[in-house]
Amino acid sequence: MTGRIFLKLIAGVLGLLLLALATVDYFTTRVAQQVYIDSLVRQTTDKTHMVALSVDRIDAVGLPTARAIAAAAGGRLTLIRGDGRVMVDTGANAATMENHASRPEIRRALEGKPGWAIRRSGTLGIPFLYVAAPCRGGAVRLAVPYSQVETQVAQIRAKILISTALAFLPAILLAAVVARWISRHFATIMAHAGELAAGNFRARLPISGGNEFGQLARTLNDTAANLQRTVEQLELEHSALERLERVRKDFVINVSHELRTPLASIQGYTETLLDGALGDPQYNVRFLGIIRHNAERLARLTEDLLTLSRIEQKRQKLEFEPHSMAGLLEEAMDLVRPIATKSSLSLATELAAGAPEVWCDSEAVSQILSNLLDNAIKYTPAGGTIVAGARPAGRFVEVYVRDSGAGIPAEDLPRLFERFYRVDKARSRELGGTGLGLSIVKHLVAAHNGTVRVESRAGEGSTFFFTLPAEEAALPQDMPESEPAMGRP
Ligand SMILES: Nc1ncnc2c1ncn2[C@@H]1O[C@H](COP(=O)(O)OP(=O)(O)OP(=O)(O)O)[C@@H](O)[C@H]1O
Ligand SMILES: [Mg+2]
Repeated sequence: MTGRIFLKLIAGVLGLLLLALATVDYFTTRVAQQVYIDSLVRQTTDKTHMVALSVDRIDAVGLPTARAIAAAAGGRLTLIRGDGRVMVDTGANAATMENHASRPEIRRALEGKPGWAIRRSGTLGIPFLYVAAPCRGGAVRLAVPYSQVETQVAQIRAKILISTALAFLPAILLAAVVARWISRHFATIMAHAGELAAGNFRARLPISGGNEFGQLARTLNDTAANLQRTVEQLELEHSALERLERVRKDFVINVSHELRTPLASIQGYTETLLDGALGDPQYNVRFLGIIRHNAERLARLTEDLLTLSRIEQKRQKLEFEPHSMAGLLEEAMDLVRPIATKSSLSLATELAAGAPEVWCDSEAVSQILSNLLDNAIKYTPAGGTIVAGARPAGRFVEVYVRDSGAGIPAEDLPRLFERFYRVDKARSRELGGTGLGLSIVKHLVAAHNGTVRVESRAGEGSTFFFTLPAEEAALPQDMPESEPAMGRP
């Protein structure tokens, strides 16, 4: 393709050269011919006049004299009487020649004026210039071969054509260089277009400069950059969708699994009871106890799932009002105090100055705190301490629940707030946990425009933090529409 462009450009320049040569040739030929004919006619006329002057009487000139004159004049001499009869001719036998009175040059000469004509000689068969002049008793005529003119014109044509072609040589060389340059740029651009077509949007054209190629290269590079950005964006969205789909599948699998375990247990023990154990006082109460435990677990699980879905679909209406942080903490502590006491844990509240009020839904905050305290109690061995507190953090208040419990390994921290994520599944289940508590906390805090985080080290206890708006303006203005309950961790 680029080779073809190169050839086309060169062919164009050569075509132009040929046209120029043809034009130059046409005009030089015409002009040169005219000039040479004029000059030949003039010279021959002068010679003819001189011959005419030297001829005393037509019939007195013999052939030898005529030959001598013709040789001196460089042509063929013919002497014609006033009636047109050829008396002497140095090129042919005068006796056999026809009457020349009708020849145009002779006619004029016989009329007393010089005349000339170019035509093919009937005797010799080649073109001649015939010039005739009047003389005493008739006319003299000198004929010179016309081929002289043609030879000279041919020489001058050749010279002019060669010099024109030579003058074009630099232009042809320049055209070849330019054509090479253009076709090379085209080759680079085409290779680049091929890269783009193959999906390699990282490819960039190395052409620069302010010419059209530079501009084209910049436009193509911009286009490639835009395509690259779009593709990267699409890839990001695609992987986000894939991640969401994975989360959704995991969620379905987790829910089914969580439901299956207590249901299977209930089914198994019910069948055992129906098969006869109902009458066995050693087992019936124990089995019924297990059935009740699993039914409670199912109830808690479904209740938690419903709570999550309600928050996510914003069906849980939150009433944001100013509340005393101290009051909210105390209330939550009072609720868990009996269990804490039973587990030999000491409870304390810390309230930094300047954190007196928060804008929140008290029901929701109570749910958040009870989940965090519940975890702290569950995962702290007897004798430990649990502290709940709050401190100002700009337009927010940071609330925390700290325990001196088992702590959480660093590798589990990033996934802790995911649904069903438990550090020790068996232990959590044993403690009646569903693994949804922290997920609920995260969503409720988010509904307040707040954030959650955790600091913990295995064996050194954990501290869970969340923020609540300290002023009305920090409340969510326009809550974004949540994704479906199953779509998020
Ligand atoms: N204070 C804590 N100390 C140590 N580990 C904790 C603490 N809080 C949470 N965890 C770990 O995080 C996991 C997830 O907690 P989350 O509250 O979501 O679930 P759960 O307590 O197991 O069950 P649920 O709260 O639904 O009854 C827990 O299983 C536990 O492994
Ligand atoms: Mg919990």
